[in-house]
Amino acid sequence: MRENIRADYSEESNKVNKGKYYITTPIYYPSGNPHIGHCYTTVACDTIARFKRLEGYDVMFLTGTDEHGMKIEQKAKEQGVTPKEYVDPIVENFKRLWETMDISYDRYIRTTDDYHVKSVQRIFKKLYDKGYIYKGEYTGKYCTPCESFWTDSQLDENGCCPDCHRPVIDAHEEAYFLKISDFADKVEKFLTETDYLTPKSRVNEMINNFIKPGLEDLCVSRTSFTWGIPVEFDPKHVVYVWIDALSNYITALGYENDAYDDFDKYWPADLHMTAKEIVRFHSIVWIIMLMMLDLPLPKHLYGHGWINFNGQKMAKSVGNVIDPFVLAQRYGSDAVRFQILRDMPYGSDCNFSNEIMVNRINTDLANGFGNLVSRTVAMADKYFGGTLPEEREENDPDGELIEMAQSLRDKVAPLVEQAQLAKALEEIFKVIARANKYIDETEPWVLGKDGQKKARLAGVLYNLLDTIRICAGLLMAFMPKTMPKVLEQIGAPANSAGFEELGRFGVLPANVTVHKGDVLFPRIDVDKEIDELNALLTPAKTIREDEDLDRANIITIDKFAEVKLRSGEITACEKVAKSKKLLKLTVDDGRHGRQIVSGISNWYKPEDLVGRKIVFVANLAPAKLCGELSEGMILACDAGDDDVRVLFLDGDVPNGSTIR
Ligand code: ME8
Ligand code: MG
Repeated sequence: MRENIRADYSEESNKVNKGKYYITTPIYYPSGNPHIGHCYTTVACDTIARFKRLEGYDVMFLTGTDEHGMKIEQKAKEQGVTPKEYVDPIVENFKRLWETMDISYDRYIRTTDDYHVKSVQRIFKKLYDKGYIYKGEYTGKYCTPCESFWTDSQLDENGCCPDCHRPVIDAHEEAYFLKISDFADKVEKFLTETDYLTPKSRVNEMINNFIKPGLEDLCVSRTSFTWGIPVEFDPKHVVYVWIDALSNYITALGYENDAYDDFDKYWPADLHMTAKEIVRFHSIVWIIMLMMLDLPLPKHLYGHGWINFNGQKMAKSVGNVIDPFVLAQRYGSDAVRFQILRDMPYGSDCNFSNEIMVNRINTDLANGFGNLVSRTVAMADKYFGGTLPEEREENDPDGELIEMAQSLRDKVAPLVEQAQLAKALEEIFKVIARANKYIDETEPWVLGKDGQKKARLAGVLYNLLDTIRICAGLLMAFMPKTMPKVLEQIGAPANSAGFEELGRFGVLPANVTVHKGDVLFPRIDVDKEIDELNALLTPAKTIREDEDLDRANIITIDKFAEVKLRSGEITACEKVAKSKKLLKLTVDDGRHGRQIVSGISNWYKPEDLVGRKIVFVANLAPAKLCGELSEGMILACDAGDDDVRVLFLDGDVPNGSTIR
């Protein structure tokens, strides 16, 4: 795959060897399809990896999937397949997305790969033999959708999961623990005395929220599910998520296995990147694990913010996912890469909307850079038949443009190094804006009319073309599909966009020949596009996915008959005090009556419901939701655009009747 997506102009053109650079994304849960949030981290890492290759580093860029755990076991069961059968197509989908987005990863790890499984067993045993793992009893709160255990003090104001704000369940069982409490001082010292964790504000977060209150030992095995790596010396336990997941960064290099042998070459990692919700595992647990194993510590961790959608974290478990395949197909993968990198501020969250994406593409790419390239190439064509004459005249305001273009590389490189990608793009686009202004100032169309001014016109166009060369070369890592086309259009020779050449002005040959090409970034009609997207991204997509799922999950009438649906009447209703979403319904079920808790408070007020006849599942196992008993579930329908409608019965049917 890699070979196809590397253009002649890019990374490999530089033969200087500056040493190694090891960069990693998190390994993602294949429990739903990838979304724009996953794209952010992966595209950001890809951009840095490409830039480092351009600089002359020997880069190892790792990504992969984290395939074990209770949630995946449950989802597979719901679909009647094995966990591996469940994850395989999703993993394929991740890989397909990375191909679509031109992700130049060097290695892909699946935690179900044999070599990883064996290594994790060895790592677990090593930690146990060293006395860092002991057997105990686990009690706590567990959020099934997020696969996270929480202590009481970490729960949100409603006693629910602090990440997704849904109810948690009580859990206790025999389990192994990792003695991270012993390392509290060491890890605090590491975090405060090195520049491992950025932005710096996250260091305080880690210390104040997790270390100062007393670091609690981490539960590292489970017996309540089986989809995991068995603990070799106690096989009723499976290794629980974090030892399995975090180890990927070293097993993928061959640590404790023979599948690879470049651990010594690439470890320690130069940059781990994750979003903020798993920074605590990468800054505390991972560092302590490595200390316990006597391994060198990674150099940097960048904990970025979230892409939010309608004010909520975009996530599979929240169900507000935007399909990156659709976006890439409509605008091109480069435009999508550009928008998410450009609009994510360093260290904080950003909001995603189709409007933001389309406007960004129009402003910066169509009107900004695209327009600069097409105007410049068109003028070189019109006034000089495509080839500039060697004789050129310099004048004001050339100096300022040249100076900005020439110093750009050395502004951008450190920003990329610090993962300040929005800032890096901002710097590049300052030069692009300056170049567009330079066209207005020099008025080449006026120069073109005057036979005496040809040399000056050539000077202006040369300065523009060489500025474009530098910008396109530096943007190559951000937009690897389009930038080779830009360089082609301005007639840049293959060796003119190496790292060294990008730090110099005047690299294009004096008699450069341009080649008019297609529009690089077509301008988008905003209103029309938003309407089309809304139509495309909500119901249609859901229906398509659901159809496939339905066909793959045919059941017999006997199975359906196992679900007892009955009619009932809501006789009383109130909000659940501890929750934002839940309503507590008293239902006349034609028998003794029952209480049902339902997450519909966003769409219905209690008074809308009292007296209405509804359909409920009568034989569902009772559950406690935010402290309230729920016996059954009422039926409701997704109504698109984040709306939900309850199924009410038509006419005065008796309560407790069978529905079939
Ligand atoms: O946490 N905005 O996997 P995961 C920005 N398997 N980034 C986002 C995002 C959003 N809305 N949503 C997801 C796991 N991400 C574990 C990791 S690592 C040893 C194990 C990105 O599938 C971001 O990088 O939930 C985040 O940290 C990661 O996806 C979590 O992916
Ligand atoms: Mg997560």
